[in-house]
Amino acid sequence: MKAIVVTDEAAGTAGMRLAERPRPEAAGNDVLVEVHASGFTPGELTWPSTWTDRLGRDRTPSIPGHELAGVVSALGYGTRGLSVGQRVFGLTDWTRDGTLAEYAAVEARNLAPLPGDVDFTVGASLPISGLTAWQGLFEHGGVQAGQSVLVHGAAGAVGSMATQLAREAGAYVIGTGRAADRGTALDFGAREFADLENDTLEDVGAVDLVFDVIGGDVGNRSAGLVRAGGTLVTIAGPPGARPADGRAIDFVVEADRGQLKEIVQRVRDGRLRTAIGTVATLDDAVAAFNPTGRAKGKTVIRVRP
Ligand SMILES: NC(=O)c1ccc[n+]([C@@H]2O[C@H](COP(=O)([O-])OP(=O)(O)OC[C@H]3O[C@@H](n4cnc5c(N)ncnc54)[C@H](OP(=O)(O)O)[C@@H]3O)[C@@H](O)[C@H]2O)c1
Repeated sequence: MKAIVVTDEAAGTAGMRLAERPRPEAAGNDVLVEVHASGFTPGELTWPSTWTDRLGRDRTPSIPGHELAGVVSALGYGTRGLSVGQRVFGLTDWTRDGTLAEYAAVEARNLAPLPGDVDFTVGASLPISGLTAWQGLFEHGGVQAGQSVLVHGAAGAVGSMATQLAREAGAYVIGTGRAADRGTALDFGAREFADLENDTLEDVGAVDLVFDVIGGDVGNRSAGLVRAGGTLVTIAGPPGARPADGRAIDFVVEADRGQLKEIVQRVRDGRLRTAIGTVATLDDAVAAFNPTGRAKGKTVIRVRP
C-alpha cells in the first residue's frame, strides 16, 4: 500500500516521504480500516511514540497521522462492536503505525461509527481536536455554565473546538491568537479576543479556566490569570508555572467512542464546525504538510477520492 513514512526525527515534516509499505493485518480486537481521509498533528513528530514502540524499541520507518475516517475492511480475532463495511472515524494508538496510508490497523474501541451524512474529510478532522477540547474542558477543566474560559490559539484546530464547546456549555469565552485570527476566533464563539502579538495578556483579568495550546511564556503567564479555585489545563507539555491557588493539569488526548459520538452529533446538528484548511491527496501530502506560507485550518489528506 501507499503510505507516508518518517525515518529521521530531526527532519520534521520535511523528512516525510511517500513510500510503499506492507498492508497491515488486524490483530486481536483490531479492525483493518480502508482509510478515506487522514489527519495529522505536527507535534507528533516530536513525541517518542512516533519513533519507538512501548518498550522503547526503534520502529522506523513509521507511518504518522493518528486520526482517520474510513470503512472497516476486516476484523481481527475476537473483535466486537464494529462490522465489515461500516463507516468509522477515530483516534489511533500513538505507538503504532498511523493513518497517512491506504490502510490502518486500529483497535476497535478507538473508533466510533461515522454517520452517513458526515463526509470522510470532516470525520478525519474531528478526532484529535474534538477529543482534546472535550477532555480538556469537561474531564480535566470541569467547566461550568457561567464560568470564564481563556482559550489560547482559539482559531486553531483544538482551540476552535474548545471555544465552541465551552460556549455551548454556557461559559464566557475569551480567545487568543495572532492579530490575524481575531475574526476567526470571534466567529467560533469567543466573546472577546486578546491578540498575543499586540495586546497585554494580563489585561484579560482573572478567569476560572485557562485552556492552553501554546505553552512556554504564554502558558507561564496564564497561570497568574487563574482565579482562586480555578484550573490551568494545558496540552503543550508540563506547565512551567502553576496557579497560586488552583490546579494545573497537562494531559494527552485519549480515544473515547462515547465522546466521538457526542462530537459528531454536534457536527451533524450544526452546533460544532471544524476548521478544515487544505485538503490534499496522499501523493501531495508531503507538500501539504510543508506549506510555503502560513497554513490556515487543519490539513486533511484525502486518501481515497
Ligand atoms: N496533549 C495533547 O493531547 C495534544 C492534542 C492535540 C494537540 N496537541 C498540541 O497542541 C498544539 C496545538 O495543536 P493544534 O492542532 O490546535 O494546532 P494549530 O491548529 O496550529 O493551532 C494553534 C493555534 O495557536 C496559534 N499560536 C501558536 N503559537 C502562538 C503564539 N505564540 N502567539 C499567538 N498565536 C499562537 C497558532 O497560530 P499559527 O498557526 O500562526 O502559529 C494557531 O492558530 C500543538 O503543539 C499540538 O501538538 C497536544
